[in-house]
Amino acid sequence: MIYTNITLTWRISMIDSKELQRKVYKVVSDKRFEHIIGVKDTAACLAMRYGADFEATIIAALLHDYCKGLSDKEMLSQAKRRHLPISKIEQENPYLLHGKLAAAYGKEKFDITDPDILGAVTWHTTGKPAMSLLEMIIFTADYIEPNRKMIPGMEEIRAMAFVDLEETVYMINKNTIGYLENSVSASSIDTHTYDTYEYYKNIHNQKKGN
Ligand SMILES: [Fe+2]
Ligand SMILES: [Fe+2]
Repeated sequence: MIYTNITLTWRISMIDSKELQRKVYKVVSDKRFEHIIGVKDTAACLAMRYGADFEATIIAALLHDYCKGLSDKEMLSQAKRRHLPISKIEQENPYLLHGKLAAAYGKEKFDITDPDILGAVTWHTTGKPAMSLLEMIIFTADYIEPNRKMIPGMEEIRAMAFVDLEETVYMINKNTIGYLENSVSASSIDTHTYDTYEYYKNIHNQKKGN
C-alpha cells in the first residue's frame, strides 16, 4: 500500500506521456523521433509481456534520447553545469553522456522523479549489472526497435526479447562488444558495457548449468 501511495505522488507531479511526446517531437530531428517512437512501441509490447508499469515505460522510452542531438561540446558543458560525474571514457566520447543528461533534463523540465524511470534513461546505452525490469526493457527496446538495421544476431535477439530478458541483455552486450572491438579501439568501449556483459554472462552460464 505504501508503495502505491508513493507511485501516486510521483504521477501527480509527473508530465503525462502524451504531453511529453509532443514536447519531444519539438526538439529532436524527424529521424530521431521515428527511432524514439519505435522504442516506445517496442517497450510497450515488452511491458505487456513482462507486466511492467505501462506509463513509466512509455515516459522512459520517450525521454531516453532527448539530449542525443547536442554537440559533444554542449553535452560536456551541460553535464558539468549539472555536476554530473564524467568518466574518462565519457570525457573522450561525450555522446555517452546523453542518457545521464536526459535523466537530468527529465527531472528539471518535466518533474520526472521516479528513480526507476530515471535509471532506465540513464543506463539505456551501456546497461549496468542487476538492472530493474524497466531498465532491461528500455535497454532492449532501444536495441531491437523496428527502425534498427538488421545486423548479425538481431533476429535471434528480437525473438529472445519476448522469451527471457536477462538472456536478451547478455546477447545484446555480447553483440555490442564484438561489434565495437572490430570497429573502434577496445579502450573506447565504456567499462559499464563490459560490467553488464560479465554480470549477464554469469546468469546465462548459471541457467545453462556451467
Ligand atoms: Fe541513446
Ligand atoms: Fe535510442
